[in-house]
Amino acid sequence: MCGIVGYIGKREAYPILIKGLKRLEYRGYDSAGCALINGEGTLSVYKTKGKVSDLEAFCSDKDCSGCVGIAHTRWATHGEPSSVNAHPHYSSSRKLALIHNGIIENYADLRKKLERKGFSFQSDTDTEVLVQLIEYVRLSHTPALPLLSAVQLALRQVVGAYAIAVLDKDTPGEIVAARKSSPLVVGIGDGELFLGSDASPIIEYTDKVVYLNDGEIALLRPDEKLKVVNLSNVEVTPEVCTLDMELGDLEKGNFPHFMLKEIFDQPACLRACMAGRLSVDRKNIILSAVVDHKERLLAARRFIIVACGTSWHAALIGKHLIESFCRISVDVEYASEFRYSDPVISSDDVMIAISQSGETADTLAAVELGKQKGAFIYGICNVVSSSIARATHTGSYIHVGSEIGVASTKAFTGQVMVLTMLALALAHEKKTISEEEFGKLCTELGRIPAKIEEILQHNDQIGLLARIFTYARNFIYLGRGYNYPVALEGALKLKEISYIHAEGYPAAEMKHGPIALIDSEMPVVVIATKNELYEKVLSNIQEVKARGGRIIALVTEGDTTISKLVDYCIPLPETMECLTPLIASVPLQLLAYHIAICKGKNVDQPRNLAKSVTVE
Ligand code: AGP
Ligand code: GLU
Repeated sequence: MCGIVGYIGKREAYPILIKGLKRLEYRGYDSAGCALINGEGTLSVYKTKGKVSDLEAFCSDKDCSGCVGIAHTRWATHGEPSSVNAHPHYSSSRKLALIHNGIIENYADLRKKLERKGFSFQSDTDTEVLVQLIEYVRLSHTPALPLLSAVQLALRQVVGAYAIAVLDKDTPGEIVAARKSSPLVVGIGDGELFLGSDASPIIEYTDKVVYLNDGEIALLRPDEKLKVVNLSNVEVTPEVCTLDMELGDLEKGNFPHFMLKEIFDQPACLRACMAGRLSVDRKNIILSAVVDHKERLLAARRFIIVACGTSWHAALIGKHLIESFCRISVDVEYASEFRYSDPVISSDDVMIAISQSGETADTLAAVELGKQKGAFIYGICNVVSSSIARATHTGSYIHVGSEIGVASTKAFTGQVMVLTMLALALAHEKKTISEEEFGKLCTELGRIPAKIEEILQHNDQIGLLARIFTYARNFIYLGRGYNYPVALEGALKLKEISYIHAEGYPAAEMKHGPIALIDSEMPVVVIATKNELYEKVLSNIQEVKARGGRIIALVTEGDTTISKLVDYCIPLPETMECLTPLIASVPLQLLAYHIAICKGKNVDQPRNLAKSVTVE
């Protein structure tokens, strides 16, 4: 987690660093800091507990001049969030300052070793050993090693994950940066260079970037070509890519929060996701990954989908879609469990890895495991050129634009949209779907964005509903079939941002235990759209009602049966059953959003969470 920014060039670094940190704050926000080298060669470190705005306040009376700087917004793994544990960390001589994203697994051994050599430590972090180790390596050579070589030698002793940036007071015209398992991007400007955990702090200044690969170390000097070496000191030619990112996605526009903006972005995002892929007129779906790897995908013995959190909920919907339409068996696994479960994977398997950020450590590790065992890996990511996108054999981006709110919204519907197109495209190739049904689904898919627009018109009404339930301490979400994962996702959204305990269940499972929780205090959200299981869900509603539960039902427009039975109704436009998750998830996102707002919570940056979970 945590965000890294760096700048070296002709401009003042501080404003660029602060703006960059704000863009990256979604990655972690318990403390923040920066290090600057000014025109006289003074290296200063300023850091504080709290958010980037706290850092700004802290720095308001400090000398923040200088054209070289690095900055960090933290999500603590080792050591409580505090000013002392915030990054950057100085070395003992205070000549080096370092920021880090990741976890150093052998930090305790390294720390003991360095303490024996006389180094003393100020913080409880794993990070501080890195800066001390680099200093130790550097000074144990005569003459002292250049920073790049010291970083390289030091990192050979390090086990774990890192993206780092280091400043050296003695060589003020350079920044050394390195990565292993945590992301790092270098922006190439005209006589200036930028660093970021992702491209969002960079896009404003240049669209030319280099994504560092694992084990690479970069030397950033403003007037020289970017130098990249690996840990064995072999020079690597950096591949310069052009960014495909909209600056507008990084701003809130007229919305009070990114989350609300991203919920409202969904019709446009889904249109972008389908563009060039779904042809409603010709009734066809073309995914380039399916075209390029048709034989491999159709020959799959089974699919294994690995993901975490919201992406895992999308995976459950993907399973249902692929199994129903393609008649191929699909396993869905939490990436974190899968990687340690000694899984049975064969070369006939196709693994689908779903990740918005493309950086989730567990999902990336599951991909690597799948690759080792010979599976063919298909990535469904949002962030272009992210680690997972680059580690997979093929894939489809969801193309929903940057998602900044920590609670995933548009990425979820984007993932479900790609999975739907994938299932339908494969089924069409496999001929496990009739032309008529395929055609109907293509037409209906094209209508989904407009149907979401209709739902968004209920925003104010959902806001009023949220007020009634703000004081609830628990919530239950129920759904069946395609809507069971929607119930899980609705519950996750609520707990993430409002801190209300919420659970999702398959509606029929109620009677096997959770029904004991129902009383007049318990709000129950039921996804009860008209479909094959409608009558059964109706019975589940009766069961809740009989025990006094308060029901909010998502119903198909015009449904009068359920509306008479329940306390509150949110109408959904009619659609085909397998496409309901694409629309039913939207009012649940709004409900969670408004409840959290009524409770005065920070919806974009909920406590304890971070957008990109690059640690295990
Ligand atoms: C979503 O609201 C969550 N913040 C979280 O569960 C997230 O979906 C999960 O960490 C996976 O992230 P990824 O899609 O970037 O891999
Ligand atoms: N492990 C480091 C710390 O706790 C960095 C954490 C991160 O990557 O967010 O300070």
